[in-house]
Amino acid sequence: MYESTDLAQAPLESGQSVMQGATGSPPAPHPQQASHVLVPIRSLGVNHRDRIARHLLALEPHDRYLRFGFSAGDEQIQRYVDSLNFERDEIFGIYNRRIELIAMAHLAYSVDPNLAACAEFGVSVLKTARGRGYGARLFDRAIMHARNQGVSRLFIYALSENTVMLRIAAKAGATVQHDGSESEAHLQLQPATFETQFSEMVAEQVAQTDYRIKVQVKQFRDLLAEVQAIRRDARDARHNMPQ
Ligand SMILES: CC(C)(COP(=O)(O)OP(=O)(O)OC[C@H]1O[C@@H](n2cnc3c(N)ncnc32)[C@H](O)[C@@H]1OP(=O)(O)O)[C@@H](O)C(=O)NCCC(=O)NCCS
Repeated sequence: MYESTDLAQAPLESGQSVMQGATGSPPAPHPQQASHVLVPIRSLGVNHRDRIARHLLALEPHDRYLRFGFSAGDEQIQRYVDSLNFERDEIFGIYNRRIELIAMAHLAYSVDPNLAACAEFGVSVLKTARGRGYGARLFDRAIMHARNQGVSRLFIYALSENTVMLRIAAKAGATVQHDGSESEAHLQLQPATFETQFSEMVAEQVAQTDYRIKVQVKQFRDLLAEVQAIRRDARDARHNMPQ
């Protein structure tokens, strides 16, 4: 990996193409069952930038190293988040019931005209939400989206020690090449079909609905908590009144 200090400068801009240039969640399913669980993955727009920053800043130093290929500091992460291009790239996320972004992926399209049909995948899952299949599901979702966008080659840059990420890529059929401490995985994508387009549309609708419900339930819970706090204050005030 290059000793890059500016995440935003990474060629494919997912934050890791440096080789070329919860809590509140349902209980974790058994690893064997993970792939059968429907995970609502939604596309994130610019209004999710702050939550994306919160998610990435919550990553521990070693996870930041695995995600970006170097030990990214808070400022570098913030710069990366500020530079995210929501128009060009696709950012996916998984929210828990508290509307905390527990997992996210960045599908970055190549800015090099000679590599127009290429994209790079980068992902992170909060420690508390690992091993539930979220990383693999985000990869599947990114593959489907990339196919629908006419991408024919997907790249994943990972450190060779990142066996979990390389396992996700290899399981999806990617060719993995090790080069010392760094590895590159690339996956040849099939062209889109009616099924991939329809599936993505349905998946997005389901995820948007799931998100709206989570937001409403959270607002309702917050309101209840406020009402309870007011009641408690009123009761305490009554108790403290001189008789
Ligand atoms: C890599 C990462 C995204 C994986 O997320 P995850 O949601 O925990 O992964 P999954 O639950 O989908 O697991 C994927 C596979 O790895 C296996 N796995 C998960 N955690 C494991 C662990 N600690 N040890 C061994 N295998 C593990 C799973 O069993 C699964 O394999 P299977 O499909 O054969 O059962 C997550 O560890 C992470 O955020 N790491 C830090 C950032 C990073 O490395 N990003 C990747 C570089 S771009």
